[in-house]
Parts: sequence; C-alpha cells; structure tokens
Amino acid sequence: MNEKLASVKRQYEKFPYPPRDPADEDRRLLAGMVDALPQINHYGFRGRRDFRKGFRVLVAGGGTGDSSTYLAHQLRDTDARIVYLDVSEAARDIARARAARRGLEARVDFRVGSLLDVPAWGESFDFVNCTGVLHHLPDPAAGLRALCAVLAPGGFLGLMVYGARGRAAIYPMQALLRLVNAGVSDEETRVRRTRAVLDGLREGHSTRLVAARAIDVDSDAGLYDLFLHSVDRAYTVPELYGFLGDAGLRLVAFVPDTRPLYDARLAFCDPEILEAVLALPRPEQEAAAELAFDCAGRHSFWASRDADTQADPRDPENVPFFAGTAGQDPAALACALRALEPDRPRSFALGVQEARLVAEVRLDAAGCRFLALVDGSRTMGEIVGRVSSELGLEPAPAWAAAIRTFETLSLVDVLLLRHASVPALLPGTP
Ligand SMILES: C[S@@+](CC[C@H](N)C(=O)[O-])C[C@H]1O[C@@H](n2cnc3c(N)ncnc32)[C@H](O)[C@@H]1O
Repeated sequence: MNEKLASVKRQYEKFPYPPRDPADEDRRLLAGMVDALPQINHYGFRGRRDFRKGFRVLVAGGGTGDSSTYLAHQLRDTDARIVYLDVSEAARDIARARAARRGLEARVDFRVGSLLDVPAWGESFDFVNCTGVLHHLPDPAAGLRALCAVLAPGGFLGLMVYGARGRAAIYPMQALLRLVNAGVSDEETRVRRTRAVLDGLREGHSTRLVAARAIDVDSDAGLYDLFLHSVDRAYTVPELYGFLGDAGLRLVAFVPDTRPLYDARLAFCDPEILEAVLALPRPEQEAAAELAFDCAGRHSFWASRDADTQADPRDPENVPFFAGTAGQDPAALACALRALEPDRPRSFALGVQEARLVAEVRLDAAGCRFLALVDGSRTMGEIVGRVSSELGLEPAPAWAAAIRTFETLSLVDVLLLRHASVPALLPGTP
C-alpha cells in the first residue's frame, strides 16, 4: 500500500465516516443520494430492469454503510448480490453492524481492501456506487478505470465527487491548517488546533460560513474529513466531463436533489442571457449554471458507458409515477401539480443546498389532464388515449402534450418511468 493510501486508511480507521450509530437503524432509514432503485431503473435501465433477478451491486468505498444499508434494504426480497468494499476495517464494522441491526447482514458481502484492486476479482456488477471516494485517491482516474473494469455491459454507476465552486473556501483553510499542524501527526492535537483556528476566525470569514453550513463539523470525523484530509480534490463541471470522458463514460443525470444547480433555466432569468446559454452544448449550459449559482460542493450523478439509458416517455408501455425532488415531498408535490389550472403558471420553491430556487410550471389543459391520470399503474399509451378521447384531441397532439408535460416537469423532476413489464416499486422503496 502506498504512503498516500496508507494515510487515508489511517484517517478512516480512526474516524470512520460518516459518523453513524447502528442503533439509529431502529428509528430511521437513510437514503443514499444515488441509490433509489426507481431512479436507477429510470435513468440507467430505460425503466426495464427487474431487480428481483440477478442484480449485482458494488459499493466501493462504502464507509459506514449509508449506501450498502439502503440498497440491501430495497433489495432484501430479491436474489441480488451486494458487495461492500472499504479500506477501513473500522468503517466496515459499523456498516456491517447497521446491516445486522436490520437483519440484512447476510444480504451483503463485506470486504476490506482498495477499490484499485477490484479488477483482479474477476467479477462484474450491474450497478456500482462510489460516493465521496474517488476525490480522495491520489489518482482518481485510476480509481474510475478500476470501477469501469468491473462494470458489466449495460451497467450503471452512481457517483459523487466534490464540486470545486462550493468548496472554494475549504482549500485555503486546508492550506492554513497544514501550516498550523506542520509536524503534528497526532490526530487529537490536529483536531484541537483546527477548532482553535476556526474559533478565532474573523466574523464574515468565508470558512466560517462554510463551517456553519457543513452538516457534521461538530463531530471530529466530520471536521477531519472537511479540513484535515491528506488527499482531497474537487472538480468543476468541465473537469467532471473530462474525468468521465477519459474513462469512456457519459454523465447521464445529476441527482434530482441538486439538479437545479446545473439548470440554466433556473440560473438565468434575463431572456437574452438565457437564450445565449441555451444555445450552448449541454455541458457548457451546466458549467454556466454552476458558475452562476456558485455553490455546488458535491456533484452527485449517474453515469454510463452507453447512450440512451433513460426511460423514454414516448414509449407507450412505460408507466409514469410521481417521485421526489429537490426539497419537495413527492406526495405534496403531486397534489400541488394536480391542482394546477390550465394555463395558470404556478411557482414551486426548491430548496437546493443554500440556493433558494423557484421553478415556474405552466401546463395546458391536456397537460393537466395527463397529470390527473398518472396513478403509477396506467401506461403512457393508456393515459394519452384517455386524454385524446376526453378532450377530443387527435393522438398526435395528445402525445405532444404528454411529452411536453413530462419535459416541463423534468425541471422539478417529479415524474419517473418504469416499463409495464417490470413490477412497481419493491416494498420499502420510496
Ligand atoms: C468520505 S468516505 C465516504 C463513505 C461513503 N461512500 C459515503 O458516501 O457515505 C470515503 C470512504 O472511502 C474509503 N476509501 C478511501 N480510499 C479507498 C480505496 N482506495 N479503496 C476503498 N475504499 C477507500 C475510506 O476508507 C472511507 O470510508
């Protein structure tokens, strides 16, 4: 093991991350950002994946088990094989204890080791989760290549790497703390000195704001992860596209919770500016939105080698259903959308990290009727047929209205699709 990996391992043996207590499994289930099966199905498998049969998952750098627990919970009544891997035994122990608390220990194969070595296993996986890990590797590209090497044909990845703009205030503080902690190897002392430096920062210092917003700096593990990590880099959107492109991957979609931060339609309200940005290719539109909002600290997204992995609303056999989105409860949002009156725009507030965004949704009569008929079991074909006969529309304009409605709602990402041939959500999925 090289020196850099050894120091990362040392940190996560001492401070397993994120800090989790297995006893909390009795009172709540944490959902990994990229791990909800209905979304994985919609974005990665054209809505056609039957998770009951032969689904293989790798959680690489699984930490204290948020993703492995959530995936095992969703896949508990299937024959899925879930492999958890981490360099930290301490993190593995917590992840295993969480699964055990839920009676899911046997669902997951817990392994200790480096994700750089997975190609030597000779195994392959349909879904690879790797969140918050690649940016801690000395060579993230080598890590991503290793994951791609074990991705089965048609496989899908759920990834998270740090965002440079939202972490801009972190790196100068890390540099300051390297100076303050020069020659100090003892972690307790490093943590104590870090807290002393933070406490002494002037009012309005950019790091004070970051620390106030960070979810877990109160814990030593969180503080260490944010400010004292020995290997830590972040990506702008163009760098992210380069990183993925070099590994032969396409970015399929950012996760709904933060997707608005990459959406030019929400970032720019001046029509001339918006038109200019929307004329750019998609990665540049997203880069422009990233710079305009200037707060994405984590890029959470799905990626694939293949084109056209998303379910298509034009397929009459796809079944639309309501799903969650940024800061919105799916049931409440479904209710609010169904209450829309034709051609009367309504604004929806989206809470996305610290950005307070507003999405305006306006549907015509056919769009409103379409939404009213979405019940999680009717297919697109059935719904469009009903809209067409109820409103006296030819099939072509009824289909156009349905697609337009679907695309309008992609702004707030409320509708997902599954193919009629696969079952509705597994028990316990959101
Ligand atoms: C910030 S934590 C993220 C944990 C988890 N993926 C999550 O999102 O909650 C990073 C994890 O990656 C692990 N890790 C770092 N380098 C690794 C490597 N080369 N192979 C496997 N795991 C690694 C660490 O031990 C740590 O548990």
